[in-house]
Formats: sequence, structure tokens, C-alpha cells
Amino acid sequence: MSANRPVLIVDSGIGGLSVTREVRALLPGLSVVYLADFAAFPYGDWDEAELTDHVVSLTAKHVAEHGPCAVVIACNTASTLVLPGLRATLDIPVVGTVPAVKPAAERTKSGLISILATPGTVKRDYTFDLIRQFAPDVAVTLVGATGLARMAEEKLAGRAVDGARLAAEIVPCFKEKRGKRTDTIVLGCTHYPFLVEEMRALAPWEVDWVDPAPAIARRLADVIEAPDAGTARFDRYISTAGVAFDYLPFIGEKPHDS
Ligand code: DGL
Repeated sequence: MSANRPVLIVDSGIGGLSVTREVRALLPGLSVVYLADFAAFPYGDWDEAELTDHVVSLTAKHVAEHGPCAVVIACNTASTLVLPGLRATLDIPVVGTVPAVKPAAERTKSGLISILATPGTVKRDYTFDLIRQFAPDVAVTLVGATGLARMAEEKLAGRAVDGARLAAEIVPCFKEKRGKRTDTIVLGCTHYPFLVEEMRALAPWEVDWVDPAPAIARRLADVIEAPDAGTARFDRYISTAGVAFDYLPFIGEKPHDS
């Protein structure tokens, strides 16, 4: 009976829209309730126990309110903490977003990959476990970026991206070791795909940037009963700060005619 129920997609801000646009493309009949937790942004700076309690109770509250068929935690910083707690609390599928270590380890030819994520995500046990499990023979550099999520928020709010600040955040990802160079960088925060063009332009050399969003949309499609493409949708984009945001250009749809 999940066919007419929305999916609830949660992030600290606009980052989860990078996942939402893939969900839109793959499941065009599925309604979306998108929750931007602007009041708590950025999650990357939060204490782990406090963030876990916060996201579990916020998500449970919105599940009770909107009756979704599934939840997507479209945030690495939160997913690397809250998935067990949410799955124990909710009786619907919970899809998480965690650093794409496995695909990066499979793709690299040089054996040098980097994970670009928030300061929270790069110190999680969950992230270390992913590396141990999926990249035991790969040299992995973890880079905790302090300002990138905010830069993505600013870009989507219409402000210019400061190239020097962006370059300083990404340059620690580029390593050279015994004649080999980093060739694969994981975008370990859902905000970062919105900055990938600038990252490409400022990169010291060409690399493969891994965005896990298409895989998350496919995972969601696996765990729900997808509505037909022609099903009438009702989408809601809400935030904990009570501010409206203009999301449509970022999920590949045209703004409504006013
Ligand atoms: N979009 C979030 C992530 O994927 C985090 C941004 C933040 O709130 O620090 O990690």
C-alpha cells in the first residue's frame, strides 16, 4: 500500500536535493516531502550523541506527520550515526547515504582515493569500518572540509563561489605517492555535488568525482512499491527554520508559472 504515500527525504539543508533530483528522475510518480533542517545546520559540527538524538526524534516526528512509505536520510553526517536507531524506531524502510568507499575502491587505478566530507563524517567509526571492509588495499585520504557545505548553501542562495576558499578545501585530497596520483574522490556530503563543476575547474589534475546519489535513488526504488510514472504527485519542501526555499531549479525542474 505504499503507492500513494510520499518519501520523506531529510538533510541539514539543501544537500539532500542532490539525492532528490535522482529520486525524481528514477521515480517520477513518487511524491516527496523534503525536510531541510536549517535550524540545526551544519550537522558536521555537532556532538555525535546529540546529533543522533536530534535526527532520530525529528525524523520520527515528521514520519508521524506525513505518513511516508520510506525515509531517506540524505546526509552522510547523520547516516553514519542514526541508521540503527531509526530502523529500530520506524516500521518503514530507511535508506541512508554513506561515503561511497566501495565504488571508489572498485574504480581507482592508481590505488589512491580521497573521501571529501564534513569534519563529523571523517571521524566516524562507520567511515573507518567502510574503509576496512571495502578498501583494505587502497590508500585512503580522509579530508574533513569545514566550509564546503555552507558554500553550497550560499551558491544555491545565489551568492558567488569563492574560488580560493574552495581550492583550499579540496587541495588536501590530491596526493602523489611513488609516482602515482589520487584518481578518485568521493563526494562524502550530499551538498558537494552542487559544487562539483567548480571543483573540477580548480582541481590540480583530473579525477573521477564519485556522487552516490544515483545509487541511493536505486536503493529506494528497491525497497518501495514505486507508483506509476503518471501518478499525480504532491510534493512539499519544508524546513525547521520556517523559511521558504526555491528548490526547483536544483532538482532539474522548471519553476512553477506564477
Ligand atoms: N549534507 C550533509 C552530509 O551529507 C551535511 C552538511 C552539514 O550539515 O554539515 O553530510
